[in-house]
Amino acid sequence: MEILKGKKILLGITGGIAAYKSCELVRLWQKAGADVMAVMTPAAVNFITPLTLASLTGREVLTDTFAASNTGIDHIRAARWADLAVIAPATANTIAKIACGIADNLLTSAVLASRAPLVVAPAMNCAMYENAATQNNLRILKERGIALVGPDSGYQACGDIGRGRMSEPAEIFRQTASMLIASGQNRRMVITAGPTEEPIDPVRCITNRSSGKMGYALAQAAAVRGWKVKLVSGPVSLPDPVGVETVRIRTASEMLEHAWREARDAECFIGCAAVADFKPSSVSESKIKKTANDGFKLSLTQNPDIIKTVAALDNLFTVGFAAETDDLLVYARHKLQSKNLDMIIANDVSSPLTGFNSDDNEATIIYRNGRETPVPKMSKEDLALRIIDAINCELAETAALSESEENGRQ
Ligand code: C5P
Repeated sequence: MEILKGKKILLGITGGIAAYKSCELVRLWQKAGADVMAVMTPAAVNFITPLTLASLTGREVLTDTFAASNTGIDHIRAARWADLAVIAPATANTIAKIACGIADNLLTSAVLASRAPLVVAPAMNCAMYENAATQNNLRILKERGIALVGPDSGYQACGDIGRGRMSEPAEIFRQTASMLIASGQNRRMVITAGPTEEPIDPVRCITNRSSGKMGYALAQAAAVRGWKVKLVSGPVSLPDPVGVETVRIRTASEMLEHAWREARDAECFIGCAAVADFKPSSVSESKIKKTANDGFKLSLTQNPDIIKTVAALDNLFTVGFAAETDDLLVYARHKLQSKNLDMIIANDVSSPLTGFNSDDNEATIIYRNGRETPVPKMSKEDLALRIIDAINCELAETAALSESEENGRQ
């Protein structure tokens, strides 16, 4: 499916053994419809030839700032051309140069001259990766908003075992595709997060255990991937995510009111809130007094199902969560059907390592067509990016499919 049709990717290749994997990356982007231009450092041409990349990309490969064919502005041409620049593999040396703004070859010059978002996939020996200089340089890149993919851990070409291997091409493809799909399109997403609080009287309430961490991480990840995000949040003690419009509410009814209003103009809705299923049938205006030995009966009314209500809107991609303690996938599949969702994230909340309030999570992404993708234990931030990337790819595939059906009818 041509989910990257019309997108232009500048691939920078530096001198590391992982350079051979760049060829597969080029193929993945091309299969998705992207146009790729390769730029290589002088060291990179010792690992794979410019001819290999020229044959794959169908374009001249830029390697030499002072080549006879170069009028002196190849680096500017390449920089202006790209929608996204990706350096894969990125050696410790090139990372250090980018951190310092050095432009001593065609690749580093193009990167310095480019206004396109930059993705860096580090690849080096584990000791070089762990070196304080490299770690400091990577921190500088991150602070500048440069996206880092990987590195992975495992066996290295030099025989060492550790962190520093370049991420697999499929992983770099997934993250870069997601960045390209949503960027600059002003697409709207609404996310609910945190618990709701249903008052019993002025001092007491019914609530759910929810830190809001997953929903806030999703809002941040969606903003990073270029979505215009509205976060409707119950009471939590987290700061507003950067670049996200956040509304704070208390009750499920207030959450529904905001979610419904915002979702009508949105393309995607994620229900991540732990909404209280019931609320007191009436709220006492004054504090209910304790009376000796007397029990206290509370009559409850069911709250609206926010996500089910919102999922009825046309053209809204709706994503829910199934937080369960047993028979996780069975309940999740059933919930996807009964709430008419497009995707559901099933997560086991029985473990203290991945459930409420923890920083990590582990989940299975279930699609409407029955496809299921397990995601191993990782930080809520990383899981959030995975979920947003999965949504982006799914929406792009649906759009590409309807476009090809439309073309077929004409
Ligand atoms: O029905 P259950 O609460 O198990 O379903 C969980 C999913 O439904 C989550 O996505 C949650 O945010 C959403 N939900 C909702 N409104 C409710 C209850 C749950 O949006 N009243």
